[in-house]
Amino acid sequence: MLNDNHGKIYIAWDSKFDLGIPVIDNQHKKLVNLCNNLYEALMKNKAEGIPTWQSSLTDTLRECVDYVKTHFHDEEVIMQAAGYVNYASHKRAHEDFIYKILETTREFDKATFTTAFQFVRFLYDWILRHIAHEDKLYVKRIQEYYRERQSQK
Ligand code: FEO
Repeated sequence: MLNDNHGKIYIAWDSKFDLGIPVIDNQHKKLVNLCNNLYEALMKNKAEGIPTWQSSLTDTLRECVDYVKTHFHDEEVIMQAAGYVNYASHKRAHEDFIYKILETTREFDKATFTTAFQFVRFLYDWILRHIAHEDKLYVKRIQEYYRERQSQK
């Protein structure tokens, strides 16, 4: 949910985004928190008029992008182990998103505040839509997979 907190926009995690798979839900929460950190760092740099703001955001941006990759990798391992039928198209959606964000981050030194805010908004929108639609589709299969593993112990 996009909230406005005294001019500060951030995502407050809503339980409606929970998929009921703790390892994945925790990663999704962390991902949203890292986007929030990026947004807050951007706001702070803008408010303080820091001239080299693009480079001062490098670490926060990298942390966010790296965690997107980590999460996608971990999720793909689980989907594949569970034999999820839409694994290939889901992986492709991940790869397309990574391609897009790497394109932007490569050119980040040329970003304006407007394009940087648009980028963060794009991250929020894509991630939340992806969780609500594409990720939701694998839940049944992965939960079955965990139950099958449990019953084999
Ligand atoms: Fe949770 Fe498919 O990303």
